[in-house]
Amino acid sequence: MNKTGYEELALDMLREHSDTIDFYLNKKYCDEKTGGRACEKLYRAEKYSLMAGGKRIRPALVLEVCRIFGGETEAALPFAAAVEMIHTYSLIHDDLPCMDNDDMRRGKPASHVAFGEDYALLAGDGLLTDAFYECAMNPFVSGDCAALAAGILSKAAGSYGMVKGQAMDMYGEDNRISLEELVELYAGKTGALICVAAQLGAFAAGVPADDEKMKDVTAFAQRIGLVFQIIDDILDVTSTAEELGKNPGKDRENHKTTFMSFYDIPKAMDFARSNTCEAVKIMEKYSGSEKLCALAEYLCNRKK
Ligand code: IPE
Ligand code: IPE
Ligand code: MG
Ligand code: MG
Ligand code: MG
Repeated sequence: MNKTGYEELALDMLREHSDTIDFYLNKKYCDEKTGGRACEKLYRAEKYSLMAGGKRIRPALVLEVCRIFGGETEAALPFAAAVEMIHTYSLIHDDLPCMDNDDMRRGKPASHVAFGEDYALLAGDGLLTDAFYECAMNPFVSGDCAALAAGILSKAAGSYGMVKGQAMDMYGEDNRISLEELVELYAGKTGALICVAAQLGAFAAGVPADDEKMKDVTAFAQRIGLVFQIIDDILDVTSTAEELGKNPGKDRENHKTTFMSFYDIPKAMDFARSNTCEAVKIMEKYSGSEKLCALAEYLCNRKK
């Protein structure tokens, strides 16, 4: 597909799903959360980060995979919201002074800058925990499906997945780690949530865990998850705060081991492109997967 072709398709799809997820999060999560003066700041902090204008890649993945496999958007929406809530929590905590010590996120002051470390910590805790409520109480799927969804989401988010990746990322600040370890780190800190997003989309469409479609969508998401983090590393070196909505140059400042520790930019891009090609090959056999495949290409060539 030529460049403008996939870009337009992917951006259209992202816009459509972002509108759906924003409407849902605003109504269900933000508007319903009202409390007295003693908890007002917590809710404000949660909403501040959740609605700050993230790209909504992960919830879009949930909704798009569900659509491809013939499911209803309404069944996928609580799962999509849950994934975005966990992602947002991970960013709030990732920016804390004791972690990456970043003061800008999604084009705004980071949560701890705007609300203080105490509320940033609690806003993250709240979003993380509420995500499991959202997922487990999904009224549009069976109880078995909701329980399984909560199970795989917690495995992806916790110390088998994202949290493990974050720990490995910290270890890689002060220690040399191998490329193999770095790939494992990325599969955790970034890949796990992207993977579970795709799986939840399939679950919402009624695809059983042991189905070929689940295997394919997982293999697709593993590849685009790895690519997503490689591009994040490249953009940290090449981009600007205006474009990214976060500070570039943080990986070097924090002595992180990243893809840039092993490859120059052209080599890293080659690696990202070949993984993207593999991902597209896996999913293009499904009818209606054009937008999902366009998303994979777009994420490999993204500028923010
Ligand atoms: C940033 O994720 C953190 C990584 C895992 C690289 P995104 O680039 O998806 O951040 P938002 O949601 O658009 O802010
Ligand atoms: C963040 O990775 C991954 C998680 C938040 C789990 P990074 O630390 O590279 O993300 P950015 O660059 O701050 O967005
Ligand atoms: Mg980090
Ligand atoms: Mg960071
Ligand atoms: Mg980064």
